[in-house]
Amino acid sequence: MRVFELRQATGIDSLTLTERADPRPGPGQVLVRMRAASLNYRDLIVVTGGMGPGLPLPLIPLSDGAGEVVEVGAGVKRVKPGDRVAGTFFQRWVTGPITDEAAATALGGAIDGVLAELVVFEEDGVVHVPEHLGWEEAACLPCAALTAWNAMFESGAVRPGEVLLTQGTGGVSVFALQFARLAGATVIATTSSDAKAERLRALGAAEVINYRTTAEWSKPARAFTAGRGVDHVIEVGGAGTFEQSLRAVRRGGTVSFIGRVAGAGEFNPNWIFIKSVRVQGIYVGSREMFENMNRAIAASGLRPVVDRVFAFEEAREALRYLESGAHFGKVAIRFA
Ligand SMILES: NC(=O)c1ccc[n+]([C@@H]2O[C@H](COP(=O)([O-])OP(=O)(O)OC[C@H]3O[C@@H](n4cnc5c(N)ncnc54)[C@H](OP(=O)(O)O)[C@@H]3O)[C@@H](O)[C@H]2O)c1
Repeated sequence: MRVFELRQATGIDSLTLTERADPRPGPGQVLVRMRAASLNYRDLIVVTGGMGPGLPLPLIPLSDGAGEVVEVGAGVKRVKPGDRVAGTFFQRWVTGPITDEAAATALGGAIDGVLAELVVFEEDGVVHVPEHLGWEEAACLPCAALTAWNAMFESGAVRPGEVLLTQGTGGVSVFALQFARLAGATVIATTSSDAKAERLRALGAAEVINYRTTAEWSKPARAFTAGRGVDHVIEVGGAGTFEQSLRAVRRGGTVSFIGRVAGAGEFNPNWIFIKSVRVQGIYVGSREMFENMNRAIAASGLRPVVDRVFAFEEAREALRYLESGAHFGKVAIRFA
């Protein structure tokens, strides 16, 4: 089978297309022929060495993919050949709170990922994907969608009528906007691009603020809520946006701390106690959360926003496109 291997984590060009022997599923495992994968900002961190020296090299990158079960190992009950499945980001986080053991099973980081024509998953590490989704759409769910879902409905509790603030137009934020609209919540979104602002409005954002031209975007966000502040922030910027998020959130509101796309920055942590803000760290989610999310996606007919699809052989180009930040929503890879 063909795979992409990261032999040194020194950048996108260090990804090498190569051959490995076709894998076979052991007891309790399933073999999946991959149909599509999707990219996450985290994949850029992995290939550029941002995970530190602990990365097991050579590594097959990428956490998110969907495909068809072609063979099951002894004792497998949850799936059968022909089933359409996606791998779970953590191969051994089925339910309950995350553990060290679960965290050590992250695809495309701690262990080999999905940028391979055939992948062996744990039986517990796959979910059936909603029937109405195509392969590229299904491949968007394991990390970005589940992270937004966990923040809003598992660890968090976004309710109809509440106001949610999203940052930028990457995978996590666009899913958060879509889920908020499903739940009857109002969305204030930030972006650096006027063209993307239009797309955010078309997806149902009630207010869009350009964070480049309005550095203190917490002010218009608060003004939109008549001075009260937003109920929930999907914090994908990290340290560079946290100060504005703490100013934008209402007293007693929630900030889901998810990412770090905005780089370094200074913030005053005292806002957290002064305003009784609940800051929750989110690390993707469990299989049970994934299945909860898939029920909502199936019931609502929600379709992930796939910006662009690249061929398997173009994985490096796909990562460069993600790196450019030109995308809106998700970037996917289609297998032959
Ligand atoms: N904790 C977890 O479990 C988890 C899971 C998934 C992702 N993450 C993290 O969450 C972050 C987002 O991931 P992703 O895959 O959704 O990223 P992505 O698709 O690559 O999105 C990148 C987008 O971030 C926006 N952005 C950049 N700087 C910004 C700023 N200063 N303020 C607001 N938006 C800014 C840009 O949007 P515009 O072009 O609209 O400006 C850019 O297009 C990453 O740090 C990732 O590592 C964490």
